[in-house]
Amino acid sequence: MCGIVGYTGSAPALLVLLQGLERLEYRGYDSAGVALVENHHLLIEKRVGKIRELIRALWGKELKATTGIGHTRWATHGEVCELNAHPHTDERGEFAVVHNGIIENYREIKEELEKLGVRYKSATDTEVIAHLVALNYEGDLLSAVLKTVSRLRGAYAFAVITTKEPNRIVAVKYGSPLVVGLGKGENFIASDIPALLPFTRDVIPLDDGEVVDLRPDGALIYDFEGNLKTKESMRVLWDIISAEKGGFKHFMLKEIFEQPRTVGDTLKGFVSRDYSLPFSLKDFRRVLVVACGTSYHAGLIGKYWIEKYAGVPVEVVYASELRYSDSPVGEEDLVLAISQSGETADTRFSALSMKERGATLVSIVNVMGSALDRESDYTLYTHAGPEIGVAATKTFTAQLVVLYALAVSHSKEKESLMDRLLRIPHFIEEVLTQAEKIKEIALKYAEYKNAIYLGRYLSYPVALEGALKLKEISYIHAEGYPAGEMKHGPIALIDEKMPVVAIGPKDRVHEKLLSNAEEVLARKGILIGVGFEGDEKFKSLCRDYMGIPPVEEDLTPFLTVVPLQLFAYYMADYLGLDVDQPRNLAKTVTVE
Ligand code: M6R
Repeated sequence: MCGIVGYTGSAPALLVLLQGLERLEYRGYDSAGVALVENHHLLIEKRVGKIRELIRALWGKELKATTGIGHTRWATHGEVCELNAHPHTDERGEFAVVHNGIIENYREIKEELEKLGVRYKSATDTEVIAHLVALNYEGDLLSAVLKTVSRLRGAYAFAVITTKEPNRIVAVKYGSPLVVGLGKGENFIASDIPALLPFTRDVIPLDDGEVVDLRPDGALIYDFEGNLKTKESMRVLWDIISAEKGGFKHFMLKEIFEQPRTVGDTLKGFVSRDYSLPFSLKDFRRVLVVACGTSYHAGLIGKYWIEKYAGVPVEVVYASELRYSDSPVGEEDLVLAISQSGETADTRFSALSMKERGATLVSIVNVMGSALDRESDYTLYTHAGPEIGVAATKTFTAQLVVLYALAVSHSKEKESLMDRLLRIPHFIEEVLTQAEKIKEIALKYAEYKNAIYLGRYLSYPVALEGALKLKEISYIHAEGYPAGEMKHGPIALIDEKMPVVAIGPKDRVHEKLLSNAEEVLARKGILIGVGFEGDEKFKSLCRDYMGIPPVEEDLTPFLTVVPLQLFAYYMADYLGLDVDQPRNLAKTVTVE
């Protein structure tokens, strides 16, 4: 949802900004731009489209400026065009701003400033920041920015540079992520850690309500009242390699293939502390799972496990629906927020409002130091490493590890139940050896316009996840349904042009799923199965079949989802689509 980056030091800023932007491109790729302070002038270059368009525009230009800011946009206010691309400037072109998030009261500010004679160039909410900073400037950028934030409502992170103080960046965090990177004689800011990894591993994630005053020789952090704060830096342990493609055509494919390791790494986190947790689900009346997208699907699977092993009722809600609901939530409830990024606005804000109502907030996040991590009473980490592909894959299976561990931590047999998980990395590897076969199957269906995914019990959320993967990267309309619900309406959609992916491992509902599969065949639907190897009965019903090694019922989602990830990937790649950065999407959605 937009990425921002900034550099001040002694090296050419442009190179740092472009490398940083490439690593932030997953956050938005409608347009990109940079602003540099050179000889007391602002040099601004913006292009519609991806970072490569910006790089092309800058090709061959020798820009020696050593301070600058950059932006990659996911449009919220104003169409996708060069005028609306960031950085935005004040009227005199002395202040430039890049911004991630939304200024909710921008209309009010805009009208007020227009009455003072200010003329706007763009249709964005961001431009008001540039004008306000310019109007508030009395010789000190930090003071001008602090005055400006007192006028803003919304959730945002932004950075400002000015021709008047060439070696200084002032950046603010309130609701959207911002990380400071510390170097020797140079300092950085970015929306996310991977943008900083080529330059430094020493970072300070800012908290909401903080402002950083960045110069080549230091980074001072203040609150919005201008009080200086002392904050410790942390060392990032990810290496740069894990944020690169490593020979795979796309990040998504690499991340699918990383799953044996990422499941294993997440599991190790529990093994190393004897599977024990600092709280007990049993102390609560209910668990309220709050999440979006893929993380929501993981939560739906967690519900079955937690209810089975902890005996505590679980409700799973879309975060965007919970925040403004009157759901009676209080001290007796545990809110379990699941988020890869730990920055998703819907998840964070709904979880925080439940915390305000008295609930205990536990989160499952992949990004250590993210807002949700810091805002929660307890955090459980997925150790999946950076996930760059917009479509979540390895973080889903890592979230399942944490949810399963959380559920079985209440069972007397927790050790033997956890031991079962130790075999999962090996089984995922076995599924991955089928990749070429899955590719062949996927290519047969790439020209279809619709698909239906069916599952029951633990396979129902997997059906939802399979359908989400397909639609987000291949733009093929796909819906997931509980297989038993088909007869209550959706079965009307089935005809000889409808591929139906049925997820049917041998579990407690296997026979029922087979009956639903027969119902599809009776209406001439094209059946594609995901089930156990050796399940000849199911296989014989299907036109195509993707096998997984037989495992205990509980563990089936770890394996059934993998062929569906590959199925979606190969289709989208065959269609020539941008798998890692599908249209209209952003990896981290920091607006509501
Ligand atoms: O970072 P989060 O887990 O909070 O993100 C939630 C969703 O935005 C995310 O899962 C999204 O649905 C992905 N594009 C799914 O592949």
